[in-house]
Amino acid sequence: MTSPTWSQADIGHCVEQVLHSRRSVRAYRSDPVPREQVLQVLQAAASAPSNSNTQPWRVYVVTGAPMKRLGDALVAAFEEGSFPPSAHFPDPLPAAFSERQVDFAMRYYGALGIDRQDAAARTRQTLRNFSFFGAPIGLIFSIDARLSRHSWLDLGLYVQNVMIAARARGLDTCPQVSFARFHALIAAHLGMGPDEVTACGMSMGFADASASVNQVKMPRQHVSEFVRMAGFEAPAALAAGA
Ligand SMILES: Cc1cc2nc3c(=O)[nH]c(=O)nc-3n(C[C@H](O)[C@H](O)[C@H](O)COP(=O)(O)O)c2cc1C
Repeated sequence: MTSPTWSQADIGHCVEQVLHSRRSVRAYRSDPVPREQVLQVLQAAASAPSNSNTQPWRVYVVTGAPMKRLGDALVAAFEEGSFPPSAHFPDPLPAAFSERQVDFAMRYYGALGIDRQDAAARTRQTLRNFSFFGAPIGLIFSIDARLSRHSWLDLGLYVQNVMIAARARGLDTCPQVSFARFHALIAAHLGMGPDEVTACGMSMGFADASASVNQVKMPRQHVSEFVRMAGFEAPAALAAGA
């Protein structure tokens, strides 16, 4: 479907610009984001497809005092060690992924001037997740725990849509799985139902463009590395650098 005033090329250019301008932002200006703007983003994102249109996403939005209370409680829980071990990745992580994880850590901590061996500094940075990296808006995404991984895929599409819809309005975000293992504490703070489970969180606000952590650009594989095609006349068109 095309807009009556925009050419297909304009729309394509615009969408790609928005896609490429999204980065995980981990330092924010203090400028507030109006409630209505947050709701517009969350409504636009609800255009995400889902299996049989089941729309399994739930979102909790915090700002101000409730956000601070949640963040403080998470930091306290982290410092007490009162949380289950991370299950974000399998152990061991297969080599291809662990290599990228190491590369990520080098770029991330490098941008912050944190030495890889400096565990205390790394922990301090990890804790910044729980204050939503200073963003004015914090989001927690949950899903019904009875659903399977196929519905988690739907939730992922919604979460990505939130980041893109936010970017289209000049807002920045950082998706954060760090919240997931604190589900019990988060559920109590936000009044989640017994069938809900925390999938991830997200910071949202306006990037502090001067922060070194926001200068990091994470690399991506070339399409030729992760795509296999069949039945095309000119498969060489996808060769590296094409
Ligand atoms: C599901 C998911 C969970 C993530 N969790 C965290 C997190 O807890 N903390 C964090 O700083 N970044 C987190 N990230 C951001 C990734 O590190 C980031 O997307 C990746 O390094 C690529 O960088 P980019 O988003 O800037 O393109 C997460 C990303 C995704 C998709």
